[in-house]
Amino acid sequence: MPLKIAILPGDGIGPEIVNEALKVMEVLNQKFNLNATWQEATIGGAAYDAEQDPYPASTQALVKSCDAVLLGAVGGPQWEALPKPSRPEAGLLRIREDLGLYANYRPTKVFDQLLDASTLKPEVVKGVDILVVRELVSGIYFGQPRGYEIVDGERRGFNTMAYRESEVRRIARKAFAAARLRSNKVCSVEKANVLEVSELWREIVIEVHQNEFPDVELSHMYVDNAAMQLIRNPRQFDVIVTGNLFGDILSDEASMLTGSIGMLPSASIGEKFAMYEPIHGSAPDIAGLDKANPLATILSVAMMLRFSLNRTDLAEKVELAVEKTLDAGVRTVDLADGQTPVSCSAMGDAVCLALGELA
Ligand code: IPM
Ligand code: MG
Repeated sequence: MPLKIAILPGDGIGPEIVNEALKVMEVLNQKFNLNATWQEATIGGAAYDAEQDPYPASTQALVKSCDAVLLGAVGGPQWEALPKPSRPEAGLLRIREDLGLYANYRPTKVFDQLLDASTLKPEVVKGVDILVVRELVSGIYFGQPRGYEIVDGERRGFNTMAYRESEVRRIARKAFAAARLRSNKVCSVEKANVLEVSELWREIVIEVHQNEFPDVELSHMYVDNAAMQLIRNPRQFDVIVTGNLFGDILSDEASMLTGSIGMLPSASIGEKFAMYEPIHGSAPDIAGLDKANPLATILSVAMMLRFSLNRTDLAEKVELAVEKTLDAGVRTVDLADGQTPVSCSAMGDAVCLALGELA
């Protein structure tokens, strides 16, 4: 049976970067017997434009019939004025919730070839290898009550940051399990000095640790300190486990250690489904200009091969092809440090060429 993958290019640079990932998948099919098929559907602003719904029923049906989902990015200024449920971001949050993708893995690995691309000193970022495990379907993104109202003649907005213990327990388990396959260290990040929701978070993480993963080294850090430590001494971290909002922020921060947010892939995994996407957004300012960095999306394909398609062998080939491309000095504009930058499609072609040579 061929593997079936749902392709959701989305908005902005989404279609361009996904196109390069598909070229890589073609090479895997032709030269490495991947045996994957794919079908495209809309999400985000593109879906709103086509069907007035950022996560239409046709897309829902497709993603649930597939072995994995590959998504580009959503969002853009043309949809910002729409009512919240119609906005592209609402489509992304709905697909995460609908597929139960509670565990979001965001690896930040500094490539030696890009040491000088970071705004931080090479000696600080060399060897950084962090996995942010972000809770993705609860916390303040989804908490009730939420709203925007008029109170005493002035506008008031509010959200609720809430976690149930079962939600903390399942993400903590994923983080500890991931740590066992890496350097065996978990740092749990919250704000337990101020927030009750964080107090619960810490309590549950400690319970899971004591009862199920006592062999893993566990530490706790307040989010403000974690933001500082990520810049001060990022090599102290192995796995960071944290809630939805803190994970959103810290993973963007961590991406800068690698030199560009254009380098970070992600996997969002639930009990039944999995979705893969670069962590960067739709970059409307460079959309359609063939300038975007497709490597985060190509590396997301590698994560898909590893976690959903049971092809660790091919995941390693794709990652090696990316390294060889960087070794050869090929750089998109976000990574260029004196080199003449190549286009998005030229970067994709270079990775395909390097991959083909590994066959
Ligand atoms: C991300 C993005 C999304 C998020 C936005 C686009 C809703 O920033 O995947 O990190 O906040 O989760
Ligand atoms: Mg984000």
